[in-house]
Amino acid sequence: MKLTTLDDWLSGPEAQANPIRGRRVFVRADLNVPLDSGRIVDDSRLKASVGSVKRLCTAGARVILASHLGRPKGERVDSLSLAPLAPAFSERSGLPVTFVEDCVGETAATAANALGEGEVLLLENLRFHRGETQNQPEFSRALATLAELYVNDAFGTAHRAHASTVGMVAHASAAAAGDLMLDEIQHLSAILRPERPLLCLLGGGKVSDKLGALQNLAERADILAVGGAMAYTFLAARDEAVGNSRVESDRIGEAQRLLDRAAAGQYELLLPTDHVVSQTLDGSGESKIVRSIPAGWMGVDIGPETAARYAAAAHAARTLFWNGPMGIFEIEPFAKGTEHVARAVADSPATSVVGGGDSLAAVNGLGIGNRVGHRSTGGGASLEFVQGLELPGLKALEQ
Ligand code: 3PG
Repeated sequence: MKLTTLDDWLSGPEAQANPIRGRRVFVRADLNVPLDSGRIVDDSRLKASVGSVKRLCTAGARVILASHLGRPKGERVDSLSLAPLAPAFSERSGLPVTFVEDCVGETAATAANALGEGEVLLLENLRFHRGETQNQPEFSRALATLAELYVNDAFGTAHRAHASTVGMVAHASAAAAGDLMLDEIQHLSAILRPERPLLCLLGGGKVSDKLGALQNLAERADILAVGGAMAYTFLAARDEAVGNSRVESDRIGEAQRLLDRAAAGQYELLLPTDHVVSQTLDGSGESKIVRSIPAGWMGVDIGPETAARYAAAAHAARTLFWNGPMGIFEIEPFAKGTEHVARAVADSPATSVVGGGDSLAAVNGLGIGNRVGHRSTGGGASLEFVQGLELPGLKALEQ
């Protein structure tokens, strides 16, 4: 994959021919951070986005910074305004950041033109306009009029073919990948060209969300370990007792095919052999550890034996990718399986990558995040990348 980079613009021959100083650069970042009444709950994405903007500003660029936040579906939703992120970005970058209450039109254009060298203008949430997610040509053109140059640093949104990640790129006089984008590509490429064995640990609530990923990863991984509610669909496919656990009956056939391919020796498929079960999902009722899920009970976490097996697989792996919790880990009595796996991933000598908000929350919450090889800022994007799928945001930059 050959991408133009900020190095090309800032220190290559291009830097001499076309200095960046004074030029307006549109930077698409992923500032989709969890907010609670305007308070930033986790600023990892914000911090990760500072580097490229700072380099551009130091070189004298006028940076127009844009992002989505949440899924407002083309309407203005006050709780999803990017306004609180302007002071937060300024604080973390030490740069002057102003905010403008729209991302296109007169107001945005006036603010962009008024920007001084080394200053940042943060635009309002791109998704307040339907044209963003629909990748509408008029909206793409309107965004592109704000700047001459385009940088995509939003790895977390690279799997979306939206106006700000795809549509507007062709309108810029030049386009480059930001430093965060390149860093993600470099680290995640280790999963595509793994030292073996490669272990992929996948968890989460719905098997339907991740079946495609499991099928693709089955082509690449030596070992697949499945946890979270999606494991119960596999157990149901094997005719094991699942009680009231969440099973997606319309996906049992696909789960069965994955089991068949494992039985044929294509890869090893690890499934839970013991479970934490409860009759309620909120942690208020009794919970117990069982091998076979009794009628009336639901699986809410992997059991200790399973956690130990998955941890052993993590220790034996040379390359490791983890996405998705092993149980309902936000409820304390159901968190042990995810925590055990998180510690094993952090302790593993493998080249490790963790993606997805919940898995990251688990390693960070335990204070061991810095022991993971790479914490991706992309959930869906990293999962698509490691399957070898083409990410539209990257493809647009290649063109
Ligand atoms: C994410 O949080 O995964 C990215 O910001 C993309 O958000 P989306 O799933 O709403 O497109």
